[in-house]
Parts: sequence; structure tokens; C-alpha cells
Amino acid sequence: MTLLHRIGTRLRRPQGVPWRSAGLRTESLSADESVRSTGWVFDNKTGEVSLESFTAGGDNEVRRYLKLFGFTDDSTRTLSMVEIGSGIGRMTAGFSKRFAMVYAADVDAAFLERCRETVFHHGTPPALRTVHVADGRSLDVATGSVDFAFSYITLQHCGTDDALSLVSEALRVTKTGGQVALNFRTWTMLDTALVPLGGLVRVLWRVPKAAKHMARIRALTRLGWQANRLSPDDVLASIGLDLIGTRLRDVTIVHSPRRRVRVSAEGVRRLAVRRVHPSHWWLVARLA
Ligand SMILES: C[S@@+](CC[C@H](N)C(=O)[O-])C[C@H]1O[C@@H](n2cnc3c(N)ncnc32)[C@H](O)[C@@H]1O
Repeated sequence: MTLLHRIGTRLRRPQGVPWRSAGLRTESLSADESVRSTGWVFDNKTGEVSLESFTAGGDNEVRRYLKLFGFTDDSTRTLSMVEIGSGIGRMTAGFSKRFAMVYAADVDAAFLERCRETVFHHGTPPALRTVHVADGRSLDVATGSVDFAFSYITLQHCGTDDALSLVSEALRVTKTGGQVALNFRTWTMLDTALVPLGGLVRVLWRVPKAAKHMARIRALTRLGWQANRLSPDDVLASIGLDLIGTRLRDVTIVHSPRRRVRVSAEGVRRLAVRRVHPSHWWLVARLA
């Protein structure tokens, strides 16, 4: 990649820069060292953690979410799925033990390398394929090829257009009769400060020398990751309201009982589930 091209990419997609800096830090580390020393990329804990404890937590979430989305224990054995924003494989390892094929997709190639390592140690390697989301918005996965498209704590980290493009990609790659479960983050009081600060941090990140230092400061990196907040109305409008009840069936917004969500579209169910974080919501739907 030429210098001009690199600068162009930074300017067009500043929200991707903090992720690439974070990914670069994992390049010289093993997956286990990445978890122990950086807390990347999920729960931010360092010290008394290991790749094993990290993926054990991921396994629990995989089990709980699959149950929430209606998959019984053995029902996924012959199915394929795509995980959009796999990171270093915290949940991918668990998915690989339950699905016949898992496409782990991420914007950062170094994370995907660590993800392969994580699945090698704690999952089922033959079930894994990695997909580099080089442009941050499209999936190199065939149309109508997977039974389940899943994304957790990722779409909030993409620019709005990229997040909505990945939603449409999730629908494109899912088979007729398949299911999508996509996680989003909506506005909280704290976000009125967090989101503009995140924008400011991403501006500073464009200075190459500053980026190197900033990637070492976890609080700054986390701020830089905050790229959008989308409501169910935003996402459903971008999908196309005419698809609800026609191409998309059983459309459900899963949210926390501590949070009221507004859904203007007709034919959309709301489901309050205690363990959903108050600032998160899920779009769950079946492809007709
Ligand atoms: C907070 S991590 C979550 C990882 C994983 N889902 C988990 O729960 O452990 C968010 C991930 O999203 C990835 N990501 C950010 N923007 C992305 C994009 N535009 N396309 C694909 N992945 C993206 C990051 O590289 C990172 O691995």
C-alpha cells in the first residue's frame, strides 16, 4: 500500500484506525499474551486472565445466546454461520465447536491471525474459515450460503454507513430459512460525551507518531472505538420496511427491560431479556 493510499484510507475511515493500531499490537504477541497483557479486545481485564479463561467466558456467552435465539443444543451441528467482528476469537472458538463451518470476519487481519490461534487451542480448527473485511463494509462470503449471521459488540464500532452495509451483507449471505442476530448499541446519557470524544481521539489518531503512543493507552483506544449509535428505527429503515413480514419473518428487537425501545415499524416484536446490557439491543430475524 502506498503512503498516499494509506493516508487516503485513514481519512476516509478514521474509525478503522484505532482497530488497526490495536491489531498491530497483537502482531508480535501470541493470542494468550494478547489477552494477558492488553485485555484486547473484549473485557479489558489484564493480569489474572489467560486465553483459556477468555474463551471459557466466550463459550458461556455462545451457549446463552444460541439458546436465546432458539437453537437447541445439537441443532447447529450441520449448520454454517458467519461471525461479523470475531476479534481474536473469544466466541469463535465456542462457535467452531458447535457449527460445521464458521466464517470469522474482521476488519483487522492481525486479529484474524490470533483468532486462528485461539481456535487451534480452544476450538475446532477444521470448522474455521477467516474472512478479512478489508474495506470495513463487505463480506467475501457467497450469497445465501450461511444458516446464521451473528455479530456482537462490533457494529457500534464501525462508521454508520459501514455498519448499515454490514447489516445488508448479513442478510445477503444468509440462506432462505436462516437467521440473523445482530447486536447494536443505542444512546445513553454517557454517550453524549463519549461519542464526540471518540471523534476527537480519532482525529488525533491520524497523526502517525501519536497513533503509536495512543494505542498503548487503553482508555484512549476504547474512546476511539466508539463510532456510532443506531436505533432499531434507523436499522429497520435502512433494511427497508417493505421487507418486514415479507423477506424478513419473526422480526424481533431484543432489549434490556431497563431500557424502553421505540420501534415505529409494524409487525416487529419486542422482547425484553434481563441479561441484555441496557445500552444494547439485538435485531433477530428469519429470512423468508
Ligand atoms: C469489541 S470487539 C468484539 C469481538 C467479539 N465479537 C467478541 O465479542 O469478543 C469488536 C471487533 O470488531 C472488529 N471491527 C471493527 N470494525 C469492523 C468492521 N468495519 N468490519 C468488521 N469488523 C470490525 C474489530 O476489529 C474487533 O475485533
